[in-house]
Amino acid sequence: MSALTTDAATVRRLAAALRSADFTAGAVYALLGAEAHAALGRNETTPADRVTREADSPLAVLIRLFTLQRPVPRAAVDSALPGLVEPLTCAGLLAADGGEVRALVDLRPYGDEEHDWWVVCDLTPGLDAGPVEVGPEHVLGISEASSSLARLVVRRPAGRTLDLGTGCGVQALHLAQHSGAVVATDVNARALDMARLTAALNGVAVDVREGSLYEPVAGERFDLIASNPPFVVSPPEGERLVYRETGFAGDDVVRRLVEGASGQLTEGGLCQLLAAWIHPADGSWRERLAAWIEPTGLDAWVVEREEVDLAAYTEMWLADSGHRGGPGYAEAYDRWLGWFAAQGIGSMGFGWINLCRAERVTPSVRIEEYGGPVAGPVGADVQAWAEGVDALSAGDPLDRAWRTRPDAVQIEAGPVGAEDPATISVRLTQGLRRERTVDTVEAGLLSASDGDLTAGQILDALAHLLDLDAAAVRAQYAPAVTDLAADGFLLP
Ligand SMILES: C[S@@+](CC[C@H](N)C(=O)[O-])C[C@H]1O[C@@H](n2cnc3c(N)ncnc32)[C@H](O)[C@@H]1O
Repeated sequence: MSALTTDAATVRRLAAALRSADFTAGAVYALLGAEAHAALGRNETTPADRVTREADSPLAVLIRLFTLQRPVPRAAVDSALPGLVEPLTCAGLLAADGGEVRALVDLRPYGDEEHDWWVVCDLTPGLDAGPVEVGPEHVLGISEASSSLARLVVRRPAGRTLDLGTGCGVQALHLAQHSGAVVATDVNARALDMARLTAALNGVAVDVREGSLYEPVAGERFDLIASNPPFVVSPPEGERLVYRETGFAGDDVVRRLVEGASGQLTEGGLCQLLAAWIHPADGSWRERLAAWIEPTGLDAWVVEREEVDLAAYTEMWLADSGHRGGPGYAEAYDRWLGWFAAQGIGSMGFGWINLCRAERVTPSVRIEEYGGPVAGPVGADVQAWAEGVDALSAGDPLDRAWRTRPDAVQIEAGPVGAEDPATISVRLTQGLRRERTVDTVEAGLLSASDGDLTAGQILDALAHLLDLDAAAVRAQYAPAVTDLAADGFLLP
């Protein structure tokens, strides 16, 4: 594939044309309507084709050209992208032939709550049940995993940040909103071209560098590292798709990222990875991950969101590469399962790894399974985890004033008509929606924790109210205060 490069003036004119056409996620949704938009989410373009077929607005033209991958009459493209067909054809973004223009890359609107952006990536394969297979250097668009990492990243102001394995540059766009400087790396030259274009189109400064893992940033430190690495574990023989497989053995890419993080982080810096890891057939996945993490001296919070059995895992990734149902599918399936068995792999785990460089004598390493509900971004939970670890390691939690998280709600349940509830539980309603059954003392502690009195003072007052021995209440509830802080119900 040829390089996708274009000059700054063309990029500026392209951005101006996209802006003038209102090529935004909101406007595309409004034009297509819910049904056609949902169909596009399933890779079906016919409903959107029907909506835009007769329309001649620049927005409809751009949707047909890029989103639906339809050939569009040259005159229509000239009106939507004035004077740009020639330069974008030279740049490898469009192909013009016989009075029609086709897109050679996807240019899609994307955004967060506050921004409208455009992202450049390869064309989505498999539209309208077409072939799914892609080349080894395919640059993925915004996937479920991209969005998951974007929701995980802590959005606090940061000096230098790193998007490792940038692909189309989507994480770098988010990072640029709260960073002094962003470095984005990839091994795929095509991805680097696309990441540069994505950044330039959105007027965002990103230092884009080629190389594997931490090599392009050797000796540099970052306040935040975000990566959605190619973490698919597959047999070594056969074609590798760079967006999902590195060529490293097993889950080594994740191990290397974890082991290298401490040397790249500033004091207090965070490394946040979306990752997959092997569950050994006869061994503990937690111990494997702990063995990667503990020598780094970093605080760690690992959340396994899902454990996937090997049959489901194989089906998922053979379908992803377009092999499902094709020739040799059953043989490939059998080969994957045989290789997993030979490697002693029992199943695969998938989730989040958060590492924080805090330089403490005894780092805090928490490795847990949480498959429960999650609402909205979880960056605030990660920030609360880091601050909670600091607070808990700074001294007796009873001597500290805590604040109950503002999104916590109390749920009382019991028989209809009963005077008192049989159970009280507290649930977080944002991020990780943890729920915990509490007793009267814990409920009282949570309702009185507003950052004013220490947990010890509140427990003393509750002991007095309930006619209990204050020292005994302190001793009994000290572990609960620690647990409530560790789980994010209490904030320092
Ligand atoms: C799953 S994609 C993630 C893309 C994008 N960051 C996102 O969140 O959607 C993984 C990216 O890592 C890149 N990659 C593959 N091997 C790599 C390596 N050894 N070092 C750095 N990046 C690598 C791939 O080219 C691909 O762009």
